[in-house]
Formats: sequence, structure tokens, C-alpha cells
Amino acid sequence: MELDLEGTHADRSYATLVSLIVPRPIAWVTTVNPDGVVNAAPFSFFNVLGANPPIVGICPGDREDGTPKDTARNIRSTHEFVVNLVDEDLAEAMNRTAASVAHGVSELAATGLSTRASSVVRPPRIAESPASLECREWGNSANRGQPPHDRAGEANSRAR
Ligand SMILES: Cc1cc2nc3c(=O)[nH]c(=O)nc-3n(C[C@H](O)[C@H](O)[C@H](O)COP(=O)(O)O)c2cc1C
Repeated sequence: MELDLEGTHADRSYATLVSLIVPRPIAWVTTVNPDGVVNAAPFSFFNVLGANPPIVGICPGDREDGTPKDTARNIRSTHEFVVNLVDEDLAEAMNRTAASVAHGVSELAATGLSTRASSVVRPPRIAESPASLECREWGNSANRGQPPHDRAGEANSRAR
């Protein structure tokens, strides 16, 4: 069986890929907007892409209305983010942070999670996370010629 995920079978692309690439780790990505408001959102489209230099890739898709998610918006303006790994004990809190809230409102307030200052970037770490990667944007694919049905932007970063 062959599927053309950019053509005839584009409507099955997401379902196909998330079924094929399993298991996927989950991470919270913390960012700040230019006013310093902290944003946290879970991502399963993330992974390490290299070790030397250390590169981490995350992929925030756009919202249904075509606007970027706060994570992408913040990285585009501040160029920093932290990838906080999620373990099983944190799964429920992680699900709550997937809520779409107004830009400038932090998802963390309602979850009981706490933050801790990062060492080299402005976005904080999530204190409860077992490990956090402090990242500076290295490049992104948001402006490359993706077909209009999938304008997902990928942020690659160097991790510290
Ligand atoms: C387990 C889990 C994994 C997710 N993975 C992704 C992902 O890889 N990419 C993405 O765009 N959204 C993903 N989401 C949805 C986002 O977390 C959700 O759209 C969130 O509201 C985005 O927040 P933001 O606007 O603050 O960036 C995931 C949600 C959950 C619960």
C-alpha cells in the first residue's frame, strides 16, 4: 500500500504518521512572550535530531483558523524555549496544559505546576519535570514552501 501524504491522502497524513511513529515522547515546551508571560504546551512532535551539536526539533502545527500557536509565536519573537520532559506521574497535569488559552495567559496557573529559572535562557523550566533542555532557536521551516494543507513550523534549536 502506498499513500501520498502531500496529495491524494493528505487528509490522512496526521493519523498515518502518529500511528506509524510510536511511541513518541512527550515534552512541555515553555516559552515567554515579549512581555515575559510564560506559556507551556505539550508536544509529541519533538525529538533530538543530533548530538554534536545538540539539536532538538519541535513541531507546533497551526490552529484550525490558520494562526500560529502561542509556542510558535513566542519562539518566533524571542528565539528561546525549554523542552521539559514529561514522565507518567505528570501525564494528567500535562493534559490540562493542552488547553488553548488567550495569548498572554499562562496555562501553568491552573495546573499546580511550578517553574524554576533557567540557566541560560529566559523561559523557565518546569520544576516538576525530570529533565529540561534549554534551547535557542537555530532555524525553522515555517517559511519554506510547504503546501497550504500543512503549514506546521518546525523549530530546531541547540540544546544546552
Ligand atoms: C500529548 C499531547 C501532545 C501534543 N503534541 C502536539 C504537537 O506535537 N504539536 C502541536 O502543534 N500540538 C500538540 N499538542 C496540542 C497542543 O499542546 C495544544 O494545541 C496547545 O493548546 C498549544 O498551546 P499554545 O498555543 O500555548 O502553544 C499536543 C497535545 C497533547 C495533549
